[in-house]
Amino acid sequence: MTTTLTTPALTLTDIGKTFGTNAPVLDGVSLTVEQGEFLAIVGPSGCGKTTLLRIIQGLDVATTGTVVNQTESGSIPRMSYVFQRASLLPWYNVRANVAFGLTLAAGRHIYANKSERDNAVDELLELTGLSRYASFYPDQISGGMQQRVNVARALAVRPDVLLLDEPFSALDALTREKLQIDVSRILSRVGTTGVLVTHDIREAVFLSDRIAVMTAHPGTIREIVPVTAERPRTEEYQHSPELATEERRIWRMLHD
Ligand SMILES: Nc1ncnc2c1ncn2[C@@H]1O[C@H](COP(=O)(O)OP(=O)(O)O)[C@@H](O)[C@H]1O
Ligand SMILES: [Mg+2]
Repeated sequence: MTTTLTTPALTLTDIGKTFGTNAPVLDGVSLTVEQGEFLAIVGPSGCGKTTLLRIIQGLDVATTGTVVNQTESGSIPRMSYVFQRASLLPWYNVRANVAFGLTLAAGRHIYANKSERDNAVDELLELTGLSRYASFYPDQISGGMQQRVNVARALAVRPDVLLLDEPFSALDALTREKLQIDVSRILSRVGTTGVLVTHDIREAVFLSDRIAVMTAHPGTIREIVPVTAERPRTEEYQHSPELATEERRIWRMLHD
């Protein structure tokens, strides 16, 4: 048996968070995300998922504990985010919105020159099924398409870690399922390390390698459960008895 020693992409140790004099929101949260791994954090509304993601991003500071982000080369890791609401620029078309992800990363020298950048944007549009909509404006495309643009924009900077906060929860069920399949394929293709927070157990099972199950008041990690099905996951897996069994197991953990 061979052992591969890699640097974890993300290590949280004993994270606690208290806002002012309120009861603690997070308590003793520890977890590790490996390079290339897709981790889901699932838990009831209000258990502190968004707060935890904000702490990982550095938008908020933990009251206790540490966050360590590392790349294998030792460079400063790039993070991208996808939120529930597509925050597209209405006066930019789809292509420009995706390219805007690169503007945000200006100065980081991700691409050598303009043609390399243009190629990268074209590839992302292709990968996310948006090529045909490149010249459309956000109000001319559906909510599902808008979220695709958000994903493409987040991937444009070639993030070391992609963070997703309830990215599909505003979409109707059919659009959501379709997008989950496509995102599973896209993420496997680009191999980005990912952290998804969601209250949707099914979504967590479908997309992730491991699931951290949270309980509330205060938010703690109750258990970390592996999902063994091969990635990328398919439509068959989405409606399989295996997925339903996993879903039920986690549902029980949350409702004990
Ligand atoms: N800036 C803040 N000030 C005070 N309380 C906050 C703040 N942000 C979040 N909270 C509280 O922290 C708890 C967890 O919120 P949140 O992280 O948004 O949960 P989730 O994303 O799991 O639904 C909630 O009770 C919320 O009211
Ligand atoms: Mg939230």
